[in-house]
Amino acid sequence: MAKLMWSGRFQKPLDSSVNDYNSSLPFDSRMYAEDIQGSIAHCHMLNKQGLLSDADALSIEKGLQGIRTDIENKVLTFDSGAEDIHMFIEEELTKRVGDAGKRLHTARSRNDQVALDQRLYAINQAKVIRSLILDLHGTLIERAKENLETYMPGYTHLQRAQPITFAHHLTSYIAMLERDIGRIDDAVRRTCVSPLGSGSVAGTTYPLDRESVAMELGLNGVTRNSMDGVADRDFAIELVSALSILMMHLSRFSEDIILWASQEFGFVELDDAYSTGSSIMPQKKNPDVAELTRGKTGRVFGDLVALLVVMKGLPMTYNKDMQEVQESLYDALDTLQAALPPFTGMVRTMKLHKDRMLEAAKGGFSNATDLADYLVKKGLPFRDAHEVSGKLVRHCIERSQALDDLDLDTLTSFSALFDRDVYDAIRIRSCVENRKVTGGPSPSEVEKELRQMEKFR
Ligand code: ARG
Repeated sequence: MAKLMWSGRFQKPLDSSVNDYNSSLPFDSRMYAEDIQGSIAHCHMLNKQGLLSDADALSIEKGLQGIRTDIENKVLTFDSGAEDIHMFIEEELTKRVGDAGKRLHTARSRNDQVALDQRLYAINQAKVIRSLILDLHGTLIERAKENLETYMPGYTHLQRAQPITFAHHLTSYIAMLERDIGRIDDAVRRTCVSPLGSGSVAGTTYPLDRESVAMELGLNGVTRNSMDGVADRDFAIELVSALSILMMHLSRFSEDIILWASQEFGFVELDDAYSTGSSIMPQKKNPDVAELTRGKTGRVFGDLVALLVVMKGLPMTYNKDMQEVQESLYDALDTLQAALPPFTGMVRTMKLHKDRMLEAAKGGFSNATDLADYLVKKGLPFRDAHEVSGKLVRHCIERSQALDDLDLDTLTSFSALFDRDVYDAIRIRSCVENRKVTGGPSPSEVEKELRQMEKFR
């Protein structure tokens, strides 16, 4: 095993089981680019502050860039047995550029270094997820625009409630995604500060220019307390909590799709490219993408709970427990990045059975409220109108009829206020069109919402 960097005060080498247990290299190697980026900024600042010679700074920067290129080209692999990515890169740098490499860690601790790397990594990955959400957002807008007049029942308690359109249903998910993006942006905004200069806990005696490091890294500022700088993992918790809410939304959407794709609903058919078959039942077409997304939601919630529990009992400041933050954060980021593209593809390609949707909208007395509203417009108080409409529904249930099927004589026997124009008022199309209230399902209103949503970026 290579000599450990901190071995000065030790008399024995590390037991190999401890080395394996302790090492984060198998998972933190994914932050190599951020680690190098942070080190280069730190090196520039040390040089500017007169803490590192021009020659040393130049060879460090060149050395680090060479390491990055070699990692990218797979010439350099992570098999040195190093304790973590920070040690791995520093060891490699020293191998390549000698003493200058040993000077890079001046005025820095792995505690502020790992805090910075994780922030940079979270920011970069959040950007990727943000753009994947926008792909889904755009797809939903497209599909909604095609279906402004595709009628279906709106459900409460999973019972047919009132008629809506498929566009209106999709637009509800667009609204959720916009909040998800808002939460991610908000979490990222608070992540964009540099902890470098916090040292291991108590800052440093060197005259650092922390702000210039932050600026070079494209961050908005620096952390304000050296203890908080190294102890804080709120940024990971905030991001994973935003991702958990996003997954909760995808999971609800999945549940809708799973129901719609069932033969009982028959509202949608998933494209062959986005559904799977059964190894035994030849007729099956399973909504695996939606089911997996629903399943993986539990996993992301687990990541969030793991993060909260890892952090909750830690005394100030850095504790090795915090290494555990990394894998939960990565798992959530990876899960979203794996889930979103197939989910978007599934939504983009699914076929609608508009006739079934319309039939369901017509079938469940979803126009019973509109029938009551008709009587209200003729002067009946709403509570009385509700009663009349309810009695008519019961009458229809007993005879397996729809409200639209009743003749005028029957209707007037329940209320003298009924007239010919009632048929127009309770047609599914008019029920939807008349709901012009802001946020309502009328095609003109949904179109307006969609135009607004198209501007969301
Ligand atoms: N791999 C460590 C982590 O992820 C890096 C920081 C180690 N710091 C220390 N003082 N041992 O937390």
